Amino acid sequence: MSNDELYAAGLLNRALDPATQPPQIREFLQAEVELLTDLVVDGMAMVDVGCGTGRHLAMLRDRLRIGVGVDYEHAYIAEAHRTAGTGHLHFVTGDATRLPLRPSFDIATCLTNSWGTMSDKPAVLDEMRRLAPTPMRLLSVYAEASIPARREWYRRLGQDVVNESAECLTTNGGFRSEHFSEDRLRTLVGECTIRPFAGIAYLVLF
Ligand SMILES: C[S@@+](CC[C@H](N)C(=O)[O-])C[C@H]1O[C@@H](n2cnc3c(N)ncnc32)[C@H](O)[C@@H]1O
Repeated sequence: MSNDELYAAGLLNRALDPATQPPQIREFLQAEVELLTDLVVDGMAMVDVGCGTGRHLAMLRDRLRIGVGVDYEHAYIAEAHRTAGTGHLHFVTGDATRLPLRPSFDIATCLTNSWGTMSDKPAVLDEMRRLAPTPMRLLSVYAEASIPARREWYRRLGQDVVNESAECLTTNGGFRSEHFSEDRLRTLVGECTIRPFAGIAYLVLF
């Protein structure tokens, strides 16, 4: 199966169940929550690319003037709608390389290595630049140090890693998830600030 088929089959919901997460993964997810709590201030407009079921926007709803989440998996967007209710959070089914939005955001995020599961990475960056013309644009991606914890996490999800390269893990079910070195991030992103994060990841501000 491909990543989109696996996501359509509900992989994300199982992955977000803490019972499936090795401790390093749980710490990474918690560190992302704390980072967003520090970074996002009252009145901001935020777009979250690859938002899944919208958990980060939902968590920030009381601070945001407007929050928009985009994901290509319609079932996740439907779930995000159900939990967010009506108000200033909006969720849209769409591809990260062609976001049906106008540039009006203070911050654009692509979190929890969503970018590392997307195929046309430069096009996603271009869309984030277009939508949040004044940086802050933020990626949170896995570093190579994440490999042992991810192997265990994916195994618990029934996705045994059958191929490991310098850039990617591939499972027996066809799931592909990339990881990055600082050099590779600089090559892909261009001008940016890179910070090691939670022991197994990088934050990239561009
Ligand atoms: C690792 S999950 C993270 C989801 C969410 N950010 C979270 O942390 O809960 C990656 C998400 O990216 C979405 N995704 C992958 N490729 C995409 C693309 N090209 N366009 C839009 N969404 C995409 C998947 O459907 C999935 O929900």
